[in-house]
Amino acid sequence: MGRLQGKTAIVTGGGRGIGAAVALRFAREGALVMIADVDEGQGRATALDIAQKTGVKVIAHRCDVADPVSVVAMVDATRNQLGPANVLVNNAGIAVFREPLEMTPADWTRCMSVDLEGAWHCARAVLTDMLTNRDGAIINIISNHAFTVIKDTFPYPVAKHALLGLTRSLGLQYADRGISVNAISPGYTDTQIAQDDFDRHPDPARARAETEAKQPPGRLCKPEEVAAVAVLLASNEARFMIGENIVIDGGVSIRMYE
Ligand SMILES: NC(=O)c1ccc[n+]([C@@H]2O[C@H](COP(=O)([O-])OP(=O)(O)OC[C@H]3O[C@@H](n4cnc5c(N)ncnc54)[C@H](O)[C@@H]3O)[C@@H](O)[C@H]2O)c1
Repeated sequence: MGRLQGKTAIVTGGGRGIGAAVALRFAREGALVMIADVDEGQGRATALDIAQKTGVKVIAHRCDVADPVSVVAMVDATRNQLGPANVLVNNAGIAVFREPLEMTPADWTRCMSVDLEGAWHCARAVLTDMLTNRDGAIINIISNHAFTVIKDTFPYPVAKHALLGLTRSLGLQYADRGISVNAISPGYTDTQIAQDDFDRHPDPARARAETEAKQPPGRLCKPEEVAAVAVLLASNEARFMIGENIVIDGGVSIRMYE
C-alpha cells in the first residue's frame, strides 16, 4: 500500500518542474491528485501522463493562485471530483529578480501575489474542510532565498521570507486541530525556471556548469529529491512536525564563503 493511500492532494503549479515531480510521486504513493496550474494545457498534459503511468485518478484544473476566485473554483472542483483535499502543496511560484530601485510596482505586485498571497489563498480555501475533518497537511515550497539573499534578486526573497512566516504562523495556529503546516526549501533545482535563467546568459552551457560547480555536491537538485521529502510531509508519519522548513540545497546555505 502506498504511503499516501486515501489522500486527496492539490499540487499548485503541478504542470511542470518540481510540482510535476511531486504530483507524480504522490500518485505513485496512492494519492488522488489535482494539478492546479495557470497553464491549462500543460496541467492537463501532465495529469494525463501521470494518470497513464500510475493508474491513479489525476486531474487538472486551470487555476491562477493569485486570484482567490479562481482558487475557490479549483478547490470546489477537487472536492466534487476527488473528495475534500487533505494535502495541499503550495508550489506555484515565479522568479522576479530585480535591482530594487529598478523594479516596477507591477513587478512587486506580481511577485507578492503569486509567491506569497497565492499560498495564502490556497491554504484559506482548503482549511475549512481540513479543520472539519481534523485532517490536513499543507506544504509550502519555499527556497533557500527564505533565509539567505543574493543581490539583484529583489523582491523574490522578500516573498519567500514571508512564506516562511506564513508556514510558521499557520502551523502553530492549527497544530491542535489535526493540521500540519511545513515547508521545503530547495536550492538550485534543475527545472525550466533554472534553464530560462541559464538561457539569459550569452553562453548557457557555461552558465549551467558554473552554477553546478558552486553547489557543494557539484550538481543541481533534482525535482524528484524535493518530491521525496514532500511525501514524508504529506504522510501521517510527519504529523508532529509543525512549522518546519526542510532545506534541500546541497549545503550551499551553510557554507560561510569560498
Ligand atoms: N527551480 C529552482 O531552482 C527553485 C529553487 C527553489 C525554489 N523553487 C520554487 O519551487 C517552485 C516551483 O519551481 P519550478 O522550478 O518547478 O518552476 P517552473 O517554472 O518550472 O514551474 C512552475 C509552474 O507553476 C505554474 N504557475 C506559475 N504561476 C502560476 C500561478 N499564478 N498559478 C498557478 N500556477 C502557476 C507554471 O505554469 C508552472 O507549471 C516555485 O515556488 C519556486 O519558487 C524553485
